[in-house]
Amino acid sequence: MAKPTARFVCQSCGAVTAKWAGRCEACGEWNTITEEPVLASPTPSAKGPVRGVAFVGLDGAAAPPPRAAVGIEELDRVLGGGLVPASAILVGGDPGIGKSTLLLQAAARLARAGKRVRYVSGEESIDQIRLRARRLGVADTAIELAAAINVREITASLEQAKDTALVVIDSIQTMWLDAIDSAPGTVAQVRACGFELIRLAKAGQFALVLVGHVTKDGAIAGPRVLEHMVDAVLYFEGDRGHQFRILRAVKNRFGATDEIGVFEMTDAGLAEVPNPSALFLAERRGNIAGSAVFAGLEGTRPVLVEIQALLAPNAGGSPRRSVIGWDSGRLSMLLAVLETRAGVRLNQMDVYLNIAGGLRMTEPAADMAVAAAIVSAAFETPTNPGTVYFGEIGLSGEIRQVAQAEARLKEAAKLGFDAAALPRRVAHGNRKLAAPEGLRLEEIGHIADLVARFAPEKAKG
Ligand code: TYD
Ligand code: MG
Repeated sequence: MAKPTARFVCQSCGAVTAKWAGRCEACGEWNTITEEPVLASPTPSAKGPVRGVAFVGLDGAAAPPPRAAVGIEELDRVLGGGLVPASAILVGGDPGIGKSTLLLQAAARLARAGKRVRYVSGEESIDQIRLRARRLGVADTAIELAAAINVREITASLEQAKDTALVVIDSIQTMWLDAIDSAPGTVAQVRACGFELIRLAKAGQFALVLVGHVTKDGAIAGPRVLEHMVDAVLYFEGDRGHQFRILRAVKNRFGATDEIGVFEMTDAGLAEVPNPSALFLAERRGNIAGSAVFAGLEGTRPVLVEIQALLAPNAGGSPRRSVIGWDSGRLSMLLAVLETRAGVRLNQMDVYLNIAGGLRMTEPAADMAVAAAIVSAAFETPTNPGTVYFGEIGLSGEIRQVAQAEARLKEAAKLGFDAAALPRRVAHGNRKLAAPEGLRLEEIGHIADLVARFAPEKAKG
C-alpha cells in the first residue's frame, strides 16, 4: 500500500487526522487544521550491524547535573539553581510580556561572567536588538548576535563552536527548516526545528533556550509537542496593567516546579523583586471591609497577598460570581459552605473576588483568607489589618491544616504582621508550632468561629 504523503494537523492542539475538517474534533477550535507533508522518519534507515543498548544498575555514580548560575537570582531559583549544560528550556509567554528582555539580560549576565553566549533572533533585526541592549545597559557585553530563521544555517554555525554555554532562539515559531514543506510556526516546523536544535544542544553540551509565544488559552501556540521534548518549561506571565512579571516553572527535570521568580518592569529592563510580599501589599489600605491578607506559598517561597471581596445586592436574575486570580469553582464551594455551615446569607448577593496585584493563586490554603474577606464584606466589619489568614476549608466547614505553616508565619512576622489566623492543631502527633516572636496565633477550628469574629451575634445563634 502506498504511504500517505500528507496528513492534517490541528495548529492549536496538534491532533492529527486523515481528512481535512473545518473544526478540530480534539480541541473544538475552528479553522485550525492545515495539511502537512508526512515527515520522513528522523533516523535514516541505516543498514549495518546494530550494537544494542547497554543496561546498567541503579546504584552507579550519579552526580547532580553541573549548573551554571546565571547570576539573576529570581531566574536561577526557577531554573532549580542555574542552567544545566546540554538541556533545553522552553520559555513561553504572551507577546510583549518581556521574554526577549529577560533573556537578553540573562545572556548579558553570563557573557559578563566570561561565558560564550549566542542569541539568535528570528523576530527582530540586529539594530533592534542593539537598541534594546543599549536601553538595558548591556551593549558592552560579548553576546554574539544573529538574525536568522534558517535552522540548517544556524546548526551549521553552532556545530563549529563547542565552547558555547547558552544559545537563545527567539522565537521557535519563526524558525524554519527547508526540508519541511510548511510555513514557520506550524506544528510540523516547530516540531522539526525543536528536535534539530535540541539534538544540537545535547551534542554541543550547551544550554538551549527556546522562546515560544502563547495563545490566549495558555497553550504554547501549536508546539504543545515541544513541552514533551524539552527539559524545562517556564512561563513568563503578568498582567499588562501591572508592572510586575512572574516567571513560573511548570515542568523541570532538574528542579522543583511551582517555583516562581518575581520581576518588576522598569525603563532599564527587568529588576529583581527579592521581597514580593512587600510589592503585593504596597497598595493595601487598612480598615476597609472586604479585604484580608493571605499568607500563601509559591513553590518554596512564602508570598503575602491581599484578597479583596465586594458584595453587591443582586438586581434580579441569578447572582453574579466574578473572580480574578482564583478558581471560580472553589469560590462557589466556599459560598455554599458559608451559607450552609455558618448561616451567612449570600444567595441574593453578587460576589466579586479579586487577588490584588494581578497574581494568580491556586492553593486551597487561600480558603480561609477568601472566606474572611467575604465575611468581612458581608458584615461590613474590616479584618484586623495586622492579621494574616491561611487554612483550607472542608465541606463540613472544618478548617484544615496546610503545608509549611512555619514558613508562612515567618514571612508574616518579617513584614510586621502581629497575628495569624490559622487552622487549629489537632492533638495527635502534631508537634508544637513555633510561632515567630511578636506573632500571635489565633487557631480557628470551624468556619462558624471565623464568622463569629466578624458577627458576634452569629456565635450565639
Ligand atoms: P519584549 O521583551 O520585547 O517582550 P516579548 O519578547 O515577550 O514579546 O518587551 C515588550 C516591550 O516592553 C518592549 O517594547 C520593551 C518593553 N519593556 C520595558 O520597557 N521594560 C521592561 O522591563 C520589559 C520587560 C519590557
Ligand atoms: Mg520578543
